[in-house]
Formats: sequence, structure tokens, C-alpha cells
Amino acid sequence: MKLKMLVVALLSLSFAAAASAAQPIVIKFSHVVAVDTPKGQAAAYFKKIAEERTKGRVKIDIYPNSQLFKDKEELEALQLGSVHMLAPATSKFGPMGAKQFELFELPYVFDSYDEVHKVAEGAVGKQLLRSLDSKGITGLAFWDNGFRCMSANKKIVTPNDMRGLKMRISSSKGIDAYMRQLGSVPQVMSFGEVYQAMQTGVVDGAENSPSNFYTQKMHEVQKYYTNTNHSYSGYAVIVNKKFWDGLPKEIRGTLEQALRDATAYNNKIAAKDNDESLAKVKKTGKTQVIDLTPEQKKSWKKAMLPAHKKMEDKIGKDLINAVYRETGFNPTTL
Ligand code: LMR
Repeated sequence: MKLKMLVVALLSLSFAAAASAAQPIVIKFSHVVAVDTPKGQAAAYFKKIAEERTKGRVKIDIYPNSQLFKDKEELEALQLGSVHMLAPATSKFGPMGAKQFELFELPYVFDSYDEVHKVAEGAVGKQLLRSLDSKGITGLAFWDNGFRCMSANKKIVTPNDMRGLKMRISSSKGIDAYMRQLGSVPQVMSFGEVYQAMQTGVVDGAENSPSNFYTQKMHEVQKYYTNTNHSYSGYAVIVNKKFWDGLPKEIRGTLEQALRDATAYNNKIAAKDNDESLAKVKKTGKTQVIDLTPEQKKSWKKAMLPAHKKMEDKIGKDLINAVYRETGFNPTTL
């Protein structure tokens, strides 16, 4: 009887050891937007395929909607290793010294997602991702969202209508430059705080993609949304370098492939998602969506162009010229 108990005890001990040896690697992936945005959906898709393909050896825990960290905190947390994976907007890399990412914020330089991809997937994009190594971060991919448009409680049609408006921006000096160029007063604020700031009148307006505008319910607190489409809004998917390098090689390879597939998925749904969000905003009847004529659009381009020059010291003239070459953008023809 005693022998039987001993065998049972030994067996349960070895089961416990096996269970702890099989503990999955947990990857905490934090982001600030809603689950039904392109980024939210792509993160969920990445989780699904990464967990399936690693056969339970990896578990991805997603924390959406600024639930775990806000804009600035999440980047600090990544560097400290208390979160492993993020996909912040490229407009948020400046404060940690990666100012070149703001080339994506150059107003009106990208006319289409294809032009963005030429830059993001080419030599410039690779150079940007590599530049993060020295900050303890590995850059893995770029994900699309959409194009930013202006919203406010005052009707905005011409660039002059921006004068004096308090506009929420993310922590980008480039965005600060173009907002000031338009005569507005930019105010840096975390994404998760924007709705309340609009509701209480701390800001008059902001700029965002239709998807972010709709999923944060900004239509409840903004009377006008103007289709300026003045700058691209996208993300860099990044991981803590030490954590990533420490993963077993075959796991890392599987995750890299899963991320390539999640990137393709994200970039396939982004445009449609933003179009649908704009239609949903219109349907609420709460925010008036304003379309611009080609002439009006031209006046926005002209008004915002001087910001390119102001962004030179952050991004670098060579890099801006490389973007112009890839996209075919010619400032002299405006
Ligand atoms: C913002 O802060 O305005 C957005 O870039 C948030 C996001 O991640 O799309």
C-alpha cells in the first residue's frame, strides 16, 4: 500500500514537472485602439495563427484600447520588457529619438497605399526598422491604418478655418509643425484621452483616420469631419529585442512568418475598414462629413507644404528626398 502511494506521489510530481516544462511562452501585445480597427483585427489574427502554428508553445495576450498602457507608457514598458510587442503609430517614435519615422507624417506626400508600401517595404523602411536596434527594440513590420482627416466642432473647409483651433495631436514634432503651419494650436495627448477632451472642450478637434474616429465614438462629440486625407496613419510592429533574441530559433521563425501573414491580412483589410467606418459615421447623422473639391484639396496641399521644410531637421533632407523619389511627389508642381 505504501509502495502504491509512493508511486502515485512520484507520478504526480513528474506530471507537475512536465506541465511546468510545457508552460507556454507568453507574449504580451499591447495597443491603444479598439479591437474592430485594422490594427485590432490584425493583432487578433496574428494571435490566432501564431498560437496554432506553435502548437500551444506560444500564447499571445492582447491588451487593446489603452487597457494596459497609454501612448508614451507603452513604449517605455516595451523597452523595460514589461510588455513584449506593440504596434504604435509611426508618429509616436520621435520622443525616444527615432525621429526619422516621422517621414510617414509628411503631409500629402502619399497619394495611395501603394506609394506608402514602396517606402515601407523598400530600402527606407528597412533602414528605419534597423535603426531601432540601438534602442533595445526589434522592428518587424509596418501595418497600414488609413489617412488622417481633420475633425472639429467648427466647420472646416479651407485651411484658414483651422486658425486658432485647439487640435489634439500625438507626440510628433512633424504633426506639430503642420498644425502650426495651419495656424492651429496643437496639443499633445494620449489617444485614450481624446474622446473626453473633445467632450469637455479641452480641445476643439483632432485629426484621425475614419476607423479610429468611428470606433472611439468621436462622432458623438465632433460636429464636423472633413475629408482632408492630409497624412498617412500607419504603424510599426515592434518587439523587445532581448526577449525576441532569447526565443528558441524555430519559434522565432514561426512567429516571423505568422507576422508576415498578419501584415498581409492587415494591409488587405485597412482600406475597406476605413471606407466602411466613414459610411458608418455618416449614418449616425451626428457628424457632418465634408468632402473637398479638387480645387479645395489643392489649397490644403499648398498650405501644408511649408511643413516639409520644417520637418527636415527631424527626418533629414536625404530621407525626405528618397521618399519623394519613391512616391513621385514633386513639391514644385503644387
Ligand atoms: C492616434 O494616437 O491618433 C492614433 O495614431 C492611434 C493609433 O494607434 O491608431
